[in-house]
Amino acid sequence: MSSQLEKVQELIELRKEAALGGGQKAIDKQHERGKMTARERISQLLDEGSFEEYDMFVRHRCTNFGQEKKSFPGDGVVTGCGTIGGRLVYVFAQDFTVFGGSLSETMAQKICKIMDMAMKVGAPVIGLNDSGGARIQEGINALAGYAEIFQRNILASGVIPQISAILGPCAGGAVYSPALTDFTIMAKGISYMFLTGPKVVKTVTGEDVTQEALGGAQVHSTKSGVAHFATENGEEAIELIKHLVSFIPQNNLEEAPVVETGDPADRMDEALNSIIPEAANKAYDMYNIIGSIVDNGEFLEVQRNFARNIIIGFARFNGRSVGIVANQPKYLAGVLDSNASRKAARFVRFCDCFNIPIVSLVDVPGFLPGTGQEYNGVILHGAKLLYAYGEATVPKVTVTLRKSYGGSHIVMSCKQLRGDLNYAWPSAEIAVMGGAGAVEVLYAKEAKAAEDPKAVLAEKEAEYNKLFCNPYNAAKYGYIDDIIEPRETRFRIIRGLEQLATKRVQNPPKKHGNIPL
Ligand code: HXC
Repeated sequence: MSSQLEKVQELIELRKEAALGGGQKAIDKQHERGKMTARERISQLLDEGSFEEYDMFVRHRCTNFGQEKKSFPGDGVVTGCGTIGGRLVYVFAQDFTVFGGSLSETMAQKICKIMDMAMKVGAPVIGLNDSGGARIQEGINALAGYAEIFQRNILASGVIPQISAILGPCAGGAVYSPALTDFTIMAKGISYMFLTGPKVVKTVTGEDVTQEALGGAQVHSTKSGVAHFATENGEEAIELIKHLVSFIPQNNLEEAPVVETGDPADRMDEALNSIIPEAANKAYDMYNIIGSIVDNGEFLEVQRNFARNIIIGFARFNGRSVGIVANQPKYLAGVLDSNASRKAARFVRFCDCFNIPIVSLVDVPGFLPGTGQEYNGVILHGAKLLYAYGEATVPKVTVTLRKSYGGSHIVMSCKQLRGDLNYAWPSAEIAVMGGAGAVEVLYAKEAKAAEDPKAVLAEKEAEYNKLFCNPYNAAKYGYIDDIIEPRETRFRIIRGLEQLATKRVQNPPKKHGNIPL
């Protein structure tokens, strides 16, 4: 064999060794835990044969605690780029088989390298997290590595989409990188995220809690709102990333890909003309309306089980991606509260960062009253949504289906918050407050003095409803651009979005606004 061939053979051997990460035993253990390896995950994520790996031969430089005698090529993370559906993405996958996927100085450098490349070329970054946190032997250098990553997460925010999947442990300060990214996906049973684990919790607060109950996928997708998606397992999490990526653009200067969906733009749905119940306080399911109007009924819901009184997610109209924000009358009557407001606000801001038009479907009775909400800062959380809609410059189409009262009317993308096209169904009630509440305030004295107070209030309520609880009063002032037949909602939204495709609006120059966080 020529010496060049020998060198090639040596390269092949070294690659084979690197591909094994922490070794076959550790790989077997990873599989026993119900987890895929970093390389298996990447190969599921990317188009076949598209992965281009960087830094396969990087090793750590630590000499503490005998580390110089123990090192693995790649140092616990697989990094590089590839394509999903033919579109470039950068990816890192932490390799739990090497020091528990813990973050060393060199691992951080590898991750930062692909983040820098992604920023240079304008492509999404996908992080597959499975790590025991800072590599303890490296001390402050591991912490510095985290900080380098966080700084890049911050600068990349709003420039390139960033997606995190949690496919194993993610604890301590390490949780802040996913939290800084746009979407966090957790796989049930194998992933958890918390600042301090059960042992520290027990010591500090006396609470007995399991890892799952403290920071499992269920908790973060229903209670805290930290996770945007919870999947049944790691494989499903990776499929979900691919689906999510299909709705979003490569960067803030591009638009999301247009897809041929085959669903006619002028498709009408007669059922919508009778979908709103007779009784104003009777619920209906907003999912039915979303399913009816979007292309082929396909809706990728975000944060499905958190703050269910508001629905957010991606869909397409005539092949173009939109972000949908819709009140859900079926859950807490669709009221806005702290969690619903912050959930929708972040989503609106994501869409605005990445040129995705926003379609809002409104049926909102108001903000949830009470000490629970007020002590929780509902004023600030509600203001977040107000701010997000008001600052958004992407096309905004709003359809009011039924209730739209008071402050919540304003917050839900009203005309004065630069709503571009505001439509209403004939069943819409756009008013300062509901009839019953209004007459209690206006006619309390008259009712008290009357022989039949209920009759007085009922008469006044009917008068109020006739005057205010309809869409015509708002349309009279041009606050509603048109009152539309429900069955034509899809067509009107599509035609509206087409008009708005060339929308150009800029906010005043500033360093950045001061959103009420
Ligand atoms: C170095 C680590 C490590 C770490 C795990 N390992 N975590 N090595 N630094 N942080 C090593 C283990 O020693 C072991 O090595 C191998 O990875 C697999 O770990 P196991 O414990 O055998 O696996 P398992 O039982 O599944 O438990 C996983 C685990 C546990 C829950 C993650 O390893 C653990 O609690 N690790 C420590 C977590 C932690 O406290 N991290 C530091 C947090 S402070 P061998 O050689 O035996 O196979 C932090 C600050 C970040 O992260 C701040 C950022 C701003």
